[in-house]
Amino acid sequence: MYSDPLLKLPEIAQPPFLELLGARCLRAEAESGQAELQLNIDERHINLWQVTHGGVSMTLLDSAMGHAGRTLFPQAGASITVEMKTTFIRPGGRPGQTVRAVARVLHRTSTLCFCEAELLVDDAVAAKASGTFKYPRKRSRFPVRAPTPLQALPVQVGYWAELSRAASSVRQAVFVAEQGVPEVLERDSADPLSLHALVRDAGGAPIATGRLLPDGHIGRMAVVRSARGQGVGRKVLNALVEAGRQRGHAELILSAQVHAAEFYRRAGFVERGEAYLEAGIPHIGMVLQTGSGGS
Ligand SMILES: CC(C)(COP(=O)(O)OP(=O)(O)OC[C@H]1O[C@@H](n2cnc3c(N)ncnc32)[C@H](O)[C@@H]1OP(=O)(O)O)[C@@H](O)C(=O)NCCC(=O)NCCS
Repeated sequence: MYSDPLLKLPEIAQPPFLELLGARCLRAEAESGQAELQLNIDERHINLWQVTHGGVSMTLLDSAMGHAGRTLFPQAGASITVEMKTTFIRPGGRPGQTVRAVARVLHRTSTLCFCEAELLVDDAVAAKASGTFKYPRKRSRFPVRAPTPLQALPVQVGYWAELSRAASSVRQAVFVAEQGVPEVLERDSADPLSLHALVRDAGGAPIATGRLLPDGHIGRMAVVRSARGQGVGRKVLNALVEAGRQRGHAELILSAQVHAAEFYRRAGFVERGEAYLEAGIPHIGMVLQTGSGGS
C-alpha cells in the first residue's frame, strides 16, 4: 500500500471534476498499472440522442488511464494527459445503466506513461482509448480534496412531484437494469401517495431512495451499486422510519428481499410470516415496532 494517505486506494484522491460527474474509482491497486472507474449514467450525462455524451466517456477513459499511471509512480502525485485518442464503437450507455472504464499501463519511463483503456457498457466495449501521460517533476501545489464520505450526505424527504425524476433513475438502475424487475411492476400508483427519501452524491447525482406509504409500508429501498456498504441505505431507512414515527404509525411494515433481510434486521425490523415470491424474487415480511402510540 502507498504510504501517502491521499493515495490510499481505492479512495485514490479524486479530482473534484470526477466527483461532480458522480464517477467512482473501483480499483487502482498499488504497483498494478491498472485502474477501473465506474459511473451510473443519469439524465445529466446524456446528449441529444439520449445516450452518454462523448465528453463523459472520454473523461472516464482519460481518468482511468491517469489513475493506472499513478499506481506505478505514486510519489509523482499526478499524471498529466499529454495526448489521447478515442474511438467510439457503440453508444456509451443510457440513463439507468452503469459504465466502467478499465485502463492499463503499456509502458512507463521515468517521465512518461503509455496507457490504453476500454469503456464497457454491460461488458460490451463502447469505446477504446490510448493515451500518453506525463509525471510532473514537482507535486501539485494545489491541495487535493478527499472525496466526501457518502455517510455525510443529507437525506431529502419529499413528495413524488418533487423527487420523481431522481428517485426513478435510482430505481431504474437497481430494480430494472440490475435485478431484471419488469418496468410495469416497478412503477405503480402508490408513488404519488407516498413520502419519498432521496440521497444525492456530492455532484448532485441521485444515489439512493426509498418510500413510505400512507399505511405504514416502507418499500422501493434502493442504493446504486457503487454507493453500497457505506451507510447510505441506513440513512434512507432511518429517515423513513422517523417519518413513520412522526406520523404516529405504531408499526412499520415492509416486504424485504430475502438477501437484504439482515440490512433491515440491523435497523430493528423482525421477520413476520413465511418467505414468498414477488416479481420472481424471494421476499419475507418484516415489521418494526416504532414505540409511537398511533395507528
Ligand atoms: C439493501 C440495500 C438498500 C442496502 O443499502 P446499503 O447502503 O448497501 O446499506 P448500508 O451500507 O447502509 O448498511 C447498513 C447495515 O446493513 C448491513 N447490510 C447491508 N446490506 C446487507 C446485506 N445484503 N446483507 C447483510 N447485511 C447487510 C451493513 O453491513 C450495515 O451493517 P452495520 O449496521 O453493521 O454497519 C442495497 O444493498 C440495495 O439497494 N440493494 C439492491 C436493491 C435491494 O435489494 N433493495 C432491497 C429491496 S427489499
